[in-house]
Amino acid sequence: MFAGFDVAFSKSLAGVREKTAAGAVVSLLAYAFMLCLVVSEFIFFQDVQIVEKLELDVSPGAETVAIYVDIEFYELPCEAVHLHYRGQHHSKVMEDFSPEFRKTPTADRKVGCRLEGTAHARKVPGLLQVSPVNADEFNRGAKSVTYESLQRFNASHHIHDLAFGEIFPGMERPLRGKTGVKSDGMYQYQYQVKVVPTTYAGLYRPAVASNQYSSTYYYKKSIGDDNPLASFGILNHVEEPGFFLRFQFSSIKIHKEEVKHAWSEFLTSVCAILGGVYAAAEFLDVVLHQTVLAKKID
Ligand SMILES: *[C@@H]1O[C@H](CO)[C@@H](O)[C@H](O)[C@H]1NC(C)=O
Repeated sequence: MFAGFDVAFSKSLAGVREKTAAGAVVSLLAYAFMLCLVVSEFIFFQDVQIVEKLELDVSPGAETVAIYVDIEFYELPCEAVHLHYRGQHHSKVMEDFSPEFRKTPTADRKVGCRLEGTAHARKVPGLLQVSPVNADEFNRGAKSVTYESLQRFNASHHIHDLAFGEIFPGMERPLRGKTGVKSDGMYQYQYQVKVVPTTYAGLYRPAVASNQYSSTYYYKKSIGDDNPLASFGILNHVEEPGFFLRFQFSSIKIHKEEVKHAWSEFLTSVCAILGGVYAAAEFLDVVLHQTVLAKKID
């Protein structure tokens, strides 16, 4: 009784070798299935993963950083836009970066200015400020600036982009696309940025040493109707309106690396697919053959 099964099984195996029509269909289906699996495995294999590692940044202050700025001021004419930089160790000097930047008047409006360019600064805590006064006036104590001109300094803006260093795929720069608009007076638009040195090693291109950042902000009214001194033109008591970007550098460094799956992984998967599908097809063929035999016996 038990041996009877065995005979049927070996006979059906012989049937496979006989090249039946059912066997052909099973084989074709098996090949198609193998192909699908191998292709999908290949697509998965192509997939690039990004591995992140944290390290201590051992050389703070030693390098410079290229700060890319692209900001549009809605209400300021270009001649009123001055970009200053102040670094931690030379706080008295206020460099005016304005000449190094491209200033484009907003085309579709009467006022408005788009400021775009790269400031090269030391890798120390610093401040980038867009101010109504130029560097000379600033160093002279802003005496030539009138209360009226400050009162008109509406620094409402849109940050098209802000990046510290070369841009790489998936770079975190949250202030990109940020709009700051206040309607109830003149403001100090204050942004605090924590810059995190980041190296990014791509699979097919040289590694870039760049930075990412996180940010917080607050907007502070600079000249209010509630400030009695200001209305008398006593500017010392007025915090000048404008755009302020304070940044500092993290001592933790991020290393990002693109990695691919190993070829051996792919080959192992392909072997598993070929073997598995072959075995399954053979089994299916045996079952089909047995069913046909059983029908014939009936
Ligand atoms: C400043 O400019 C913005 C953008 O044009 C505007 O919405 C806002 O009302 C202005 N603020 C004041 C106090 O005029």
